[in-house]
Amino acid sequence: MCGIIGATGLDDVVDLLVEGLERLEYRGYDSAGLVLTAPGELWRVRAADGTRSVAALRGLAASAPRAATTGVGHTRWATHGHPSVENAHPLFDCTGRVAVVHNGIIENHTEIGERLEAAGHTITSATDTEVLAHLVEEQMAGGLSLTEAVRVTLTMVEGSFSIAVVSADEPELLVAARRNTPLILGLTDGAALLASDIPALLGKTDRLFVLDDDQLAELRPGSVRVTTLAGAEVEPPALSIDWDLAAAQKGGYEDFMSKEIREQPRAVADTLLDRHRPDGSLTLDEARLSDDDLRRINKVYIVACGSSYHAALLAKYAIEHWARVAAEVDIASEFRYRDPVLDATTLAVGVSQSGESLDTALALREARQRGARVLAVTNVVDSSIARDADAVLYTRAGPEICVAATKTLLAQIVALELLALTLAQVRGTLSADEIDQIMESLHRLPGMIEEVLKREKEVDEVAQALVAARDFFYLGRNVGFPVALEGALKLKELSYLHAEGYPAGELKHGPIALIEPGTVVVGVATRNPLWDKFQSNIAEVKSRGATIVLVANDGDERAEALADHVLWVPAADQLLAPVVDIVPLQLFAYRLARLHGHDVDRPRNLAKTVTVE
Ligand code: G6P
Repeated sequence: MCGIIGATGLDDVVDLLVEGLERLEYRGYDSAGLVLTAPGELWRVRAADGTRSVAALRGLAASAPRAATTGVGHTRWATHGHPSVENAHPLFDCTGRVAVVHNGIIENHTEIGERLEAAGHTITSATDTEVLAHLVEEQMAGGLSLTEAVRVTLTMVEGSFSIAVVSADEPELLVAARRNTPLILGLTDGAALLASDIPALLGKTDRLFVLDDDQLAELRPGSVRVTTLAGAEVEPPALSIDWDLAAAQKGGYEDFMSKEIREQPRAVADTLLDRHRPDGSLTLDEARLSDDDLRRINKVYIVACGSSYHAALLAKYAIEHWARVAAEVDIASEFRYRDPVLDATTLAVGVSQSGESLDTALALREARQRGARVLAVTNVVDSSIARDADAVLYTRAGPEICVAATKTLLAQIVALELLALTLAQVRGTLSADEIDQIMESLHRLPGMIEEVLKREKEVDEVAQALVAARDFFYLGRNVGFPVALEGALKLKELSYLHAEGYPAGELKHGPIALIEPGTVVVGVATRNPLWDKFQSNIAEVKSRGATIVLVANDGDERAEALADHVLWVPAADQLLAPVVDIVPLQLFAYRLARLHGHDVDRPRNLAKTVTVE
């Protein structure tokens, strides 16, 4: 949600900024801009051209002054102020000598803005960000350096931010700071860099550092100095990542989504790697909770947003069935405001691909304050939730660039299944043999996903046949229900078609009123003890004229007889089947989106990482 990039000490700074913004586009893309500290003045270009904003910026940046070696760029996901050039970052103060880029929300911007206007400042945008530039201006006019002006400014604001600030008065200096939204720093011998996220800096330097909450960084060519907002010197922790540049590039695929869907077998296999010791026991080596800690747990709360929430819902089935511990799942933005009951015997699990979704991070913080033990399941090493948690279980999916989650979701599901098995192991609810068998089944999943990917053409044909449909209901029971939710989410976010996921048994309590000829019902009809009941639910919508698409196990004649179209998948064990069953639904949503001419990597109005509440 908004991407920031910055660099100082580079002759080709403008190229780095534009390339960085291209790599950060998944964080927001309704407008983009950059500013350079051209000697003696600031040089700024901005564009608001929807998903083409960064491309438009590349064109505008061609006339950048080549003498500049310092600058910052921004790609925006609008919160305050509609997407327009005036509201695009970088935003200036009154003099045009201070520029700010910001990710987050300044919650008290209205009162600050009123005070600044009363003092004679002119605010030209509708953003919450612009006040920061004027506050810095005010402090610099009082004699402070840029660094100290930013430090004082941040004592006046409430909300969340990662910011980068430049001034024409100190042309080689970048000042950055953060609270609750991410910022990564990078260093080379002659330059210093910053970005919202790791992919923007891949291939630029291996010396990466994490800026923590309420810290301020001064970046100069070849040096980075970090202090707390209070002024104490800090040694920023080095970030060790094994992602290479190729992992953040399309590598010959038409789009990131195709690439990431095809990387799913590897993402699942890597997440399972080395978890099972030769003596049959399980190890979650990044999880710093002891077996005794886990034995004491008598309730698990899982919090997440978006697709990660669907992984969390699936984990509930596995944890309750295998480990016999009560598990509750909550949408992260709801959790902390409903006075949840937690104590030291509660395990709060946050699931977040990015590790930066603000709602999830704040929910975990709330859980921790209430005494719960906190475990983060995330794909990004040293991300905010990873650093705040008692223990971390990393998924190993590699960087995911497409806004819609695919490979990270499958990796989350298997990671959470490993957690469920670990709980079962320490609590003695499954025998070593049973765990061995489940692990063997887990290791068969990558091969099954490969098999589904080979059937892409069949999915394409179904999408082609349904290209005129406008309403889709996704139905499932048991673990098929979260799969239905995910299938519907993928379709609506990529194709902008109306899609709802529903538990099949609940349909007759309302939504069935919407079923009419032309409605498409997509049923998750793979092996499940509730198949007979599910079949009746499908018959109910079929008799009302719906077109039926079923995800079914190879050779299932009942499914074939019931459906207009079948998406065949190999049969996996019941609790593991979602990892396979979701794949044809991803392919189906992808293909329909392409048939409708949409940009699958950058769906409208969405951002990959949501760092506002
Ligand atoms: C956004 C993305 C989704 C993602 C969700 C949660 O809405 O568009 O793809 O599932 O955030 O993100 P997280 O990084 O916390 O898993």
